Amino acid sequence: MIELQQVHRRYAMSGQTVHALAGVDVTIAAGEFVAVTGPSGSGKSSLLNILGCLDHPSSGRYLVEGRDVAMLDDEASSDIRNRRIGFVFQSFHLLPRLSVLENVLLPLRFHRQPPPGARQRARELLDRVGLGNRGDHRPGELSGGQMQRAAIARALLLQPALLLADEPTGNLDSKSAADVLDLIDEVHEGGQTVVLVTHDRDVAARAPREISLRDGRIEADVRR
Ligand SMILES: Nc1ncnc2c1ncn2[C@@H]1O[C@H](COP(=O)(O)OP(=O)(O)O)[C@@H](O)[C@H]1O
Ligand SMILES: [Mg+2]
Repeated sequence: MIELQQVHRRYAMSGQTVHALAGVDVTIAAGEFVAVTGPSGSGKSSLLNILGCLDHPSSGRYLVEGRDVAMLDDEASSDIRNRRIGFVFQSFHLLPRLSVLENVLLPLRFHRQPPPGARQRARELLDRVGLGNRGDHRPGELSGGQMQRAAIARALLLQPALLLADEPTGNLDSKSAADVLDLIDEVHEGGQTVVLVTHDRDVAARAPREISLRDGRIEADVRR
């Protein structure tokens, strides 16, 4: 489903070049659940941002369903980013002035014509993540765990083939983290592809495949 070929990502920083990814080759099949681990600074977020089309390789290729993302025009690549991929961040990225329900509906902002039933689907997703009675609240009225579950509902609104999560439990207590991980398991069991970045060994152990990064390179790629 997705393939990285010799992907490098270099950042220019005050005259210095940081080599965040230094030749990553990886193929992830549809329906896989992959944990990406590695120490801080090893390139995990850089990798996930490329997978999510939020960023592009400095060199190398990123193929989604066989198509090189760099060769797509803006419309096609934003279509992949907005409709095929759901993103969950450590810090939730909910908009504080919108209600929880409106936050879940945000992926529709790029649609000229909202698909019929979208609000209904958003309400169902809120039910599914245990927030059925919180749709009209503001994010600030929720706990961290509830905010992350709302963010997951938002990421799932358009039924993305690929769910990407960057340290989604990094700001959560252990009970909330367990709820969020159970939800991510369910997403995988439902057939969606999941890539989960974590530095927590116990979290990584839930995934059938673990890719470890070190200094921008794949150090190990293990299937359990
Ligand atoms: N926007 C950026 N500008 C400059 N350097 C960056 C940027 N993003 C990441 N880096 C650097 O790239 C390396 C990898 O970072 P990152 O992908 O965030 O690692 P991780 O998520 O594993 O902590 C680090 O050395 C980091 O400082
Ligand atoms: Mg990171």
